[in-house]
Amino acid sequence: MAMIQLIYASRPFGFDEATLSGILFTARANNTRDAITGALICRADLYLQLLEGPESEVGAAYERIEQDDRHLEVRCLVRSAIDTRMFGAWAMRSDPAQSWMWTRKQVENGAPEQATAEEVVGIFSRLINETPVQSDS
Ligand SMILES: Cc1cc2nc3c(=O)[nH]c(=O)nc-3n(C[C@H](O)[C@H](O)[C@H](O)COP(=O)(O)O)c2cc1C
Repeated sequence: MAMIQLIYASRPFGFDEATLSGILFTARANNTRDAITGALICRADLYLQLLEGPESEVGAAYERIEQDDRHLEVRCLVRSAIDTRMFGAWAMRSDPAQSWMWTRKQVENGAPEQATAEEVVGIFSRLINETPVQSDS
């Protein structure tokens, strides 16, 4: 089945540890079921998530995610066909934002929307070389 990669940005609503662990618990259970892998970069002003897997499953997960009231302003930045996964070992890796990513000011000023698809994917490529905070598989 055709695989896609989908990356979106959103603004957390009610961001705290308990909310985040609840999101990750559901994400990992569903994604294991749906053959989806990926990574979620989180901080108080930004979620940046990469989902990869079968086109229909990723599309369905994104539709559920768009409706979720734990974040606002969900906007898709990248949606493209892929042959290989970037995060094949993670049902959903979770990472805090790194110092080399966009600043809060840049996010506020629309940096995620202005970035090219290559730049957005590049953030996740670079993340692969950072040690994950927590692995779930
Ligand atoms: C930032 C964020 C990331 C999420 N990531 C995923 C995900 O990767 N996979 C998933 O199935 N649900 C994810 N969710 C949860 C969905 O919005 C939704 O609550 C869930 O898929 C519903 O699953 P359920 O019907 O099993 O309760 C995420 C939600 C938020 C706010």
